[in-house]
Amino acid sequence: MAAYSPFNIIFSTYFLFAFAIAGKQHHSLDLLRPAIGFGKEKMSHLHFYFHDIVSSRNPTAVQVAAAQTTRKWQSMFGAVFMIDDALTEGPEPTSKLVGRAQGLYASASQDTLGLLMAMNFAFMDGKYNGSTLSVLGRNAVFLGVREMPVVGGSGVFRFARGYALAHTHWLDPKTADAIVEYNVYVMHY
Ligand SMILES: *[C@@H]1O[C@H](CO)[C@@H](O)[C@H](O)[C@H]1NC(C)=O
Repeated sequence: MAAYSPFNIIFSTYFLFAFAIAGKQHHSLDLLRPAIGFGKEKMSHLHFYFHDIVSSRNPTAVQVAAAQTTRKWQSMFGAVFMIDDALTEGPEPTSKLVGRAQGLYASASQDTLGLLMAMNFAFMDGKYNGSTLSVLGRNAVFLGVREMPVVGGSGVFRFARGYALAHTHWLDPKTADAIVEYNVYVMHY
C-alpha cells in the first residue's frame, strides 16, 4: 500500500517534469537533424582536371610573393602563388567547366619541389553547384601521385573529410603550365 505523503507527490512530480523535459529535448534534436543536413554518412568520389596556367596573357596562377633568397633555390623556396584555376570534366582545356580551385600554393621545401596547398574547390555544376571542399596539404609535384587531406566543406559537403589524389596529366617544362588529374574521396552527410 503506497503512502502518498506530500513529499512523495512533490518528488514524483519533479521526476515527471524532468523526464518530460529530457524527452522534449531529445525530440527537438531529432527535428533539427534534417535542417542541419544530417543524414546517413556517405562517401563521394569526384574526378576532374585542374588547369594551372602560369604563362598565358591571362594566367590563372600568379606569383604574389617571394623571399629575397627565393631565386637561389631551384625549388623556389619562399615563392607564393595565388590561383583561380579551372576545374573541368575532361583533360582538354575546352572540356566542360565544373568548378574552380581558388586559393594559394607556396614553395615550402628547400631541397625538392614541395608545395603547401591551401585551396578551396568551388563547384559550379550539377548537384555540387555552390558547394565547396577545402584542401590543405603537401604537394611534392614530381611524385607520380600526391595525396592531400580534404579538411572540410560547405553545402552538400558539410562535415566533409577525406583525401585528394593528384596526378600530373600534362606539363609544359618550358612554361610550367600543367594539367593535373584529381581523384577526390570524401565522407559527408
Ligand atoms: C549554379 O548555381 C548558380 C546560382 O544558383 C546558377 O546561376 C547557375 O546557373 C548554376 N550553374 C549550373 C551549371 O547549374
